[in-house]
Amino acid sequence: MKGIILAGGLGIRLRPLTKVTNKHLLPVFDKPMIFYPLETLVDAGIADIMVVTGGNSAGDFLRLLGNGREFGLRHLHYAYQEGEGGIAEALSLAQFFADDDLLCVVLGDNIIENSIRPYVEKFKKQGGGAKILLKEVPDPQRFGVPVLEGDKVLKIYEKPRVAPSKYAVTGVYMFDHRVFDIIRTLEPSDRNELEITDVNNRYIEWGEMSYDILEGWWTDAGTIESLLRASNLVAQRQKKKRQTANQEHEQTAKEVAES
Ligand code: DAU
Repeated sequence: MKGIILAGGLGIRLRPLTKVTNKHLLPVFDKPMIFYPLETLVDAGIADIMVVTGGNSAGDFLRLLGNGREFGLRHLHYAYQEGEGGIAEALSLAQFFADDDLLCVVLGDNIIENSIRPYVEKFKKQGGGAKILLKEVPDPQRFGVPVLEGDKVLKIYEKPRVAPSKYAVTGVYMFDHRVFDIIRTLEPSDRNELEITDVNNRYIEWGEMSYDILEGWWTDAGTIESLLRASNLVAQRQKKKRQTANQEHEQTAKEVAES
């Protein structure tokens, strides 16, 4: 299975923070944003990864991530997206890297509390088609919103005025290699982008889309509010981890003292 991180786009909703740099290089608590999707993929057991980026600061990704050694990788692949043609267009740049393998795509501004490994394993067993991960949110109309019926997704609406459910389609997508054939047939949307939602709807029409509800928190970091929220959530997670480690340390020390 191959991993793809989509980190192109202009980050207009984060101006002026993104006037001279790429959104995914901005800090989320104590690390650059791009570290989080990379850790998400590595933690899911995916070691063959491509980062698709764009804009004027693309070279900074190479300086920051290099060959991915800091993340336990042997090498990292890169592709460059000219302009901002949409998430599906950015994904199309990974076609030659992807070959015929299954893919796990993560949007560069998505931060996830827990490991996605269980969902990735389920998709490997599924063996083809597509899988999306959903999360209940208070403001679904900001995202792709699914219409659900039991274990089926009937359709996804991109940023609908009235949300048909309380779920957001998160920026973690799993596809088979036919995703590239679908992208070739897409027409640009009203915002002049090739939409990932149109790709997902095609798999739904084929009856080959599964979904899971993501455990733990999830957030994007593409607006000023969500960037702050992401930093706060990561800070809380670090604090919780430190507390657990301290408790374990104290427990071990107690056991040693008593023995
Ligand atoms: O975060 C989840 C949401 O992401 C989904 O619920 C939506 O269905 C999906 O369309 C997307 O919505 P956004 O409008 O928030 O996407 P945005 O334009 O902010 O792009 C998200 C990431 O995708 C961005 O961090 C980098 C990558 N991207 C985006 C565009 C437009 C690219 O690599 N190239 C692009 O041209």
